[in-house]
Amino acid sequence: MVNIEVCIGSACYVKGSNKVVEQLNELIEKNGWSGKVELKGSFCMKACQNHLGLGIRINGRQLEGVTAQNALPVLEKEISAALA
Ligand code: FES
Repeated sequence: MVNIEVCIGSACYVKGSNKVVEQLNELIEKNGWSGKVELKGSFCMKACQNHLGLGIRINGRQLEGVTAQNALPVLEKEISAALA
């Protein structure tokens, strides 16, 4: 199981984290990952304060430089790698 946490704190929300959640749900559906990927919301994980981009963790590892614009290809690659 791959655990993904997406920050729903205000700084990330303003930068489109809710859209990333929608994209992730579509990605999970498209790839048939529903039993393999668990998606959760999270409060602020300090990515905003540390200029790391959106607060997104995969299996507890904070991704860096993810934005609402590049999230889809980055997350597809990260999840594929985590499932391999
Ligand atoms: S509000 Fe998302 S990491 Fe701070």
